[in-house]
Amino acid sequence: MHPLDLPPRRLRFPHWRVAATLTGGVWVLGLGGGAGAVDLELARQQFLKSCGTCHSATAGEPDRQGPNLYGIVGRSAGTRPDFAYSDALKGGRWVWDEAALDRFIADPQEAHPGTFMPYSQPDPQKRALIVGFLQQQAADPSAGKP
Ligand code: HEC
Repeated sequence: MHPLDLPPRRLRFPHWRVAATLTGGVWVLGLGGGAGAVDLELARQQFLKSCGTCHSATAGEPDRQGPNLYGIVGRSAGTRPDFAYSDALKGGRWVWDEAALDRFIADPQEAHPGTFMPYSQPDPQKRALIVGFLQQQAADPSAGKP
């Protein structure tokens, strides 16, 4: 489905209230009082910078130090068939949604103690961009292409 065919979607993150509305590839983020328009390219760049060393998000690309994240929003945790997950993640015990991803990348050890992921992103604005990218990338495979 092309992203332009999708109805506007709203996400809510529990601890800092971001409302993100997807309108034709442009994410409009409402941050407290101020609001700014953020495009998908910026979100993609943030993903590549923060996560791209260890994760591809393009369909068909191999796992790196971390598993391929193509289609991660809505995917069961720890289920890439050839990836050697930690006991903390493996086995499909939950489905990644926006809130679960936000919590995980904010503090992986707090969210899932014992995980091998050695990275965290404390900035909620950057996390919103990254999670927004991952969600959009699942709806539009071409968005994951470098
Ligand atoms: C230094 C390498 C590294 C970086 C940087 C990194 N990760 Fe990871 N990630 C990993 C590893 C290793 C795992 C596997 C963890 C485990 O098995 O416990 C993982 C697992 C994951 C998973 C679980 C996937 C699944 O199939 O269930 C998600 C989601 C994830 N990372 C998202 C991110 C995001 C988003 C970023 C950027 C904000 C990021 N990671 C940055 C190494 C990294």
